Amino acid sequence: MKAMVYRGPYKIRVEDKPMPKIEHPNDAIIKVTTAAICGSDLHLYHGLMPDTRIGHTFGHEFIGVVEEVGPSVQNLKRGDRVMVPFNIYCGSCYFCARGLYSNCHNVNPNATAVGGIYGYSHTTGGYDGGQAEFVRVPFADVGPTIIPDWMDSEDAVLLTDALATGYFGAQLGSIAEGDTVIVFGAGPVGLYAAKSSWLMGAGRVIVIDHLEYRLEKARTFAHAETFNFAEYDDIIVEMKRTTDFLGADVVIDAVGAEADGNFIQQVTGTKLKLQGGSPIALNWAIDSARKGGTVSVVGAYGPIFSAVKFGDALNKGLTLRMNQTPVKRQWPRLFEHIQNGYLKPNDIVTHRIPLEDIAEGYHMFSAKLDNCIKTLIIANPS
Ligand SMILES: NC(=O)c1ccc[n+]([C@@H]2O[C@H](COP(=O)([O-])OP(=O)(O)OC[C@H]3O[C@@H](n4cnc5c(N)ncnc54)[C@H](O)[C@@H]3O)[C@@H](O)[C@H]2O)c1
Ligand SMILES: [Zn+2]
Ligand SMILES: [Zn+2]
Repeated sequence: MKAMVYRGPYKIRVEDKPMPKIEHPNDAIIKVTTAAICGSDLHLYHGLMPDTRIGHTFGHEFIGVVEEVGPSVQNLKRGDRVMVPFNIYCGSCYFCARGLYSNCHNVNPNATAVGGIYGYSHTTGGYDGGQAEFVRVPFADVGPTIIPDWMDSEDAVLLTDALATGYFGAQLGSIAEGDTVIVFGAGPVGLYAAKSSWLMGAGRVIVIDHLEYRLEKARTFAHAETFNFAEYDDIIVEMKRTTDFLGADVVIDAVGAEADGNFIQQVTGTKLKLQGGSPIALNWAIDSARKGGTVSVVGAYGPIFSAVKFGDALNKGLTLRMNQTPVKRQWPRLFEHIQNGYLKPNDIVTHRIPLEDIAEGYHMFSAKLDNCIKTLIIANPS
């Protein structure tokens, strides 16, 4: 089968790989129809994620058709159209029992903090991902769900990560009615976080980025006020000014480790790798929250320490909340919002490309060319 393969930083290509096999009775093999490239894939592509091995296939956002099931699988059968959350999880350990699917204790022998993620290096278990014609899905009775008939398949693929993560970001903010919410980052996750903030009762939603075409999307898709941080000497002063010098009730970091905006943090975080990424967006989030406010972090950071302004967070009495998204926990409410028309997830899709062209897709997304926001990969036309 054809699959995207990692060959080193900034080097990927499509190669022939052996078909994945059922390795455990509760596995399924899924024929991937559509996959997506996530902002998290860029951290792998840029060589920032520890233990990303040559030959690994990325891809943790995908949907497809069940090709084969192991002998113990009860909920799926060959031919079912399924959406697969990016988390691999057992569904029964201490953490899964508490809804912490992204922290499952039974799926990742290489780390205790994070659970399993498809196509996300050996740090998250070494499972091959879905930017391929076929993928092995462990615990097939736990994660995958049959795509409802009414759901657009492009919306289904976006539910497997980006949309669920944006919604989770807003949820971690514990938004109260009328709250002012600032979202750092106008990528797919930030756009969905901004949109979701309204659904949770926000009174004002502000999105910050430096890419004008993405801020335009934040205005039209998420109906947010926007600020381009490159146009201000100090974006924090501007945020204070626009919130009566109080700061925002809730701030969401939807940027993560590869944030622009501070040269020293960028060099030490992403070039020299002396910290787990540049924490500048997180520090801006801490600075622009009001005292007693909440900072929600869904932007991804590496395993080691980062120069985060922890003392300021303490002295302001902030609540900091964060995690990799437990995707399936977000689905019931998101399904409702999509079905009754409040959300049209695929409004942010800018590119649809065949699997053979995925290297160009990565380059375009990484360099933010051609007004790229979200790229879908067509692996097997359905
Ligand atoms: N927690 C999770 O489960 C989870 C899931 C999906 C993605 N993520 C993470 O969320 C982040 C965003 O993902 P995405 O797909 O939207 O990525 P993306 O790369 O498309 O978007 C990031 C955006 O942040 C902007 N940006 C850079 N520096 C900034 C700064 N200092 N202030 C404000 N904006 C800044 C960039 O211009 C870009 O538009 C990534 O770190 C990704 O790894 C986490
Ligand atoms: Zn992702
Ligand atoms: Zn578990």
